[in-house]
Amino acid sequence: MGKHRVGIVGGDGIGPEVIAEGLKVIAATGVEFDTVDYDLGGARYLRDGTVLPDSVLEEWRGLDAIYLGAVGTPGVPPGLIERGLLLKMRFELDLYINQRPFHDPGKGIDFVVIRENTEGTYAGEGGLLRKGTPHEVATQGSVNTRMGVERACRYAFDLARSAGRRKHLTLVHKTNVLNFSGDLWERTFNEVHADYPDVATAYNHVDAACIYFVEDPQRYDVVVTDNLFGDILTDLGGAVTGGIGFAASANLNPTLTAPSMFEPVHGSAPDIAGTAKANPTAAILSGAMLLDFLGETAAADRIRAACEASVTGEITGSTPEIGDAIAARV
Ligand code: IPM
Ligand code: MN
Repeated sequence: MGKHRVGIVGGDGIGPEVIAEGLKVIAATGVEFDTVDYDLGGARYLRDGTVLPDSVLEEWRGLDAIYLGAVGTPGVPPGLIERGLLLKMRFELDLYINQRPFHDPGKGIDFVVIRENTEGTYAGEGGLLRKGTPHEVATQGSVNTRMGVERACRYAFDLARSAGRRKHLTLVHKTNVLNFSGDLWERTFNEVHADYPDVATAYNHVDAACIYFVEDPQRYDVVVTDNLFGDILTDLGGAVTGGIGFAASANLNPTLTAPSMFEPVHGSAPDIAGTAKANPTAAILSGAMLLDFLGETAAADRIRAACEASVTGEITGSTPEIGDAIAARV
């Protein structure tokens, strides 16, 4: 397939450590990358004030994919790197699908959460009035467009009927209280369903879904939900399938008008940075999702199979030891 041009953003804390293992495992498959390193994240911001220059965004448009570790450093104002780098990347590159698979063969758990990734409460609508006074007001609106909801639902229905899935899709929302956004989501979901009569559907309120994620996660095949519910539910999904050290994710632009971005669900964990205690499996599995998206599905399958030994606890050790053991099994 030739070399793929991949941008690398190791980021902060354990980010660069886990991405190094991901690249090691990808190299073991024989797939070749032409990588370009980008020094971005909280540490870079503290050094020279750079977050995400427009020139870098423009350069990224020429890449095939972006592989990101984690961003966030103590000492940076909250939200600055999250909004200025990660969310800017998701919004500007129109990475409207956040796909997060959860899998624990021992417990018979195998589901995927499709999180809408460009709208909802993440959109940045709202503001502060009378800041600092006793009459201060804060609003944070949830932005939901028919187009944005529909493309997320369509993607999820397509995934539910794809090979290896069980043709079942659950919408998670809070329609009993969020009567405007929930109404749009429910109507859109049902209208799109008409194009997928072979897919069975269910609906859960998000609070009930939290119980099912813990008590009966086997019921789920594909779940579709909004940005904030998806953020929260996918941490829970990680927690019930071996921990956040195994949770991979893909931020996708399925229309291919910009490169997609692949990152573990976990954060930069500054408390364990430099101690080689980070589990690189989530980053390695995110690398497999990257290969899938580039059409290197055989190599991706080999990585996923090799990671099973880490998921079951057969492989343990330091960050590079786990990477070596997975690479040896590829
Ligand atoms: C995630 C993270 C991000 C999010 C943060 C770091 C902005 O928690 O990818 O789930 O909320 O989307
Ligand atoms: Mn999150």
